[in-house]
Amino acid sequence: MSNATNSNEVCQNASIDIKGINKSYGKLQALNNVDLVIEQGTVFALLGPNGSGKTTLVRILTTLLRPDSGSAHVAGYDVVREAHSVRSVIGLAGQYPAVDEILTGKENLEMIGRLYHLGKSVARARAKELLNRFDLAEAANRQVKTFSGGMRRRLDLAATLIARPSILFLDEPTTGLDPRSRLGLWEVIAAQAKDCNTVFLTTQYLEEADRLANKIAIIDKGRVLRQGTNQELKECCGGDTLIKVRIADSNKISKASDVLEDLAAGKLVSYPDTGEITIPAINGPSLMPEIVRRLDAHNIIIAELALKPPTLDDVFLSITGHTALENAEAKQNTHITGRDDK
Ligand SMILES: Nc1ncnc2c1ncn2[C@@H]1O[C@H](COP(=O)(O)OP(=O)(O)OP(=O)(O)O)[C@@H](O)[C@H]1O
Ligand SMILES: [Mg+2]
Repeated sequence: MSNATNSNEVCQNASIDIKGINKSYGKLQALNNVDLVIEQGTVFALLGPNGSGKTTLVRILTTLLRPDSGSAHVAGYDVVREAHSVRSVIGLAGQYPAVDEILTGKENLEMIGRLYHLGKSVARARAKELLNRFDLAEAANRQVKTFSGGMRRRLDLAATLIARPSILFLDEPTTGLDPRSRLGLWEVIAAQAKDCNTVFLTTQYLEEADRLANKIAIIDKGRVLRQGTNQELKECCGGDTLIKVRIADSNKISKASDVLEDLAAGKLVSYPDTGEITIPAINGPSLMPEIVRRLDAHNIIIAELALKPPTLDDVFLSITGHTALENAEAKQNTHITGRDDK
């Protein structure tokens, strides 16, 4: 979508400013008064579960959908009134890769280069450079239909970069990839962010947002619930690491929670369905022996005891009192103490 070529020029204004955006599909309000400011040169992650409105916002910012009300500026251009100018400075890798199955990797990139009016030799050189950068050089002459999911994603990302966009939108760039491919893609995205691009990505994984983004906003049912740095968001559920205890008899979860409550600095979360309790690991694993002693003293058998990083579910629970899962039963049965009820 871009033909900007001068990196100094593209860095002049690559910010995103969203004010009071609303969007409904019939009776369903997909976005509810969304306000966000994304500074240029930063990587921003919109983190939310299925159906929370992530793609709807990406489609509005990339001019594919008009908001019902509110305004959004991308690189200083109004996404409705100056849609053409917005398109000239952005790149979009949608939720599902949009590469041609019949063409080879190299042909896909060269074709896109030509669509952006790059000369034949420039398009070829750019395609070669990106195939190398995305570890696709060996597969360059294979038809895309023979590519793995991870290779398709990398090719799709390469295609969005052909014309050197100053703002890159990535809608769930690693969903469906195996852990190794995900790691590879994270490296590529992080490197891309260093090129003075502003990156707006959506994800369902706190780990991904944490790894890539400077700022994260959490969205649920079209509303931005909380925004901040990675650390600020993780703090609300107890920091970088949680201790997870799973007790063998989930009927005893209430008793177990009472017994462990004062170790959790007001941030104990229990999941009665699975018999799990999480407690912030304020000093690493040092609380673990005390947890074992206390539960043992009450004849509560431990099925699992581990350290784990917080997930989107943990952050959701700490903010909303329910998990990200659209499961009414889980919502009713999940309990959190010391929650700051906003
Ligand atoms: N074209 C449409 N017509 C009607 N409803 C829609 C349409 N597109 C999205 N929705 C609904 O709007 C809500 C937000 O959808 P959206 O695709 O923005 O969510 P998302 O956060 O991207 O979800 P996912 O993680 O599953 O991709 C959902 O309830 C969805 O069913
Ligand atoms: Mg989506």
